[in-house]
Amino acid sequence: MVGIELYHASKFGNGAKVAEELRRVMDARGHQMNVHHIDGAKPREMPRADLYIFGSPTRFGRPIGSMRRFIKKVSLPPGTKYAIFATHADAVPDKKTGKMPTEEELNRLRKTIPNLDEVLKGKGLVKVADEVFNVSADAMKGQLKEGWQGKAEEFATSILSSG
Ligand SMILES: Cc1cc2nc3c(=O)[nH]c(=O)nc-3n(C[C@H](O)[C@H](O)[C@H](O)COP(=O)(O)O)c2cc1C
Repeated sequence: MVGIELYHASKFGNGAKVAEELRRVMDARGHQMNVHHIDGAKPREMPRADLYIFGSPTRFGRPIGSMRRFIKKVSLPPGTKYAIFATHADAVPDKKTGKMPTEEELNRLRKTIPNLDEVLKGKGLVKVADEVFNVSADAMKGQLKEGWQGKAEEFATSILSSG
């Protein structure tokens, strides 16, 4: 059994849904996972776990500020394993050209995961998996794109396969 602690900073509920789904999948596979919103959580006093998962919404291509601040304060022993997921607004066609951005163009704009990785790797933590979940961009709250549960399942598999 793997003991997992997940910390997320969901604002509109999409990341919270992903977290709950991951918890359900882990539970179904016999693993213990606790979900926390970072509001009120203590980054310097995190419960012991085999692995940590962090989930962040995106603001202007980067992690939401509350998550950046939380991650900076995280205090875990070097070598600790983590996985990370970001929620992003779905890609939309360019206003002028009508063309969809390429994968490469999107990656240039999407720094949520790389920014958090940089800080966590600087603390000696070891990443085992990451995943992006897209949210429709048509409304403020948005909605997770169809197939998100399958993606959560795959993400759980790659986290667990890290040994
Ligand atoms: C002010 C603001 C700026 C945003 N900027 C971006 C962005 O640059 N890139 C992106 O992919 N999503 C952006 N989003 C969409 C958020 O990523 C999306 O609302 C969030 O991931 C949904 O997660 P949540 O429901 O868990 O809060 C932005 C949202 C807001 C409100």
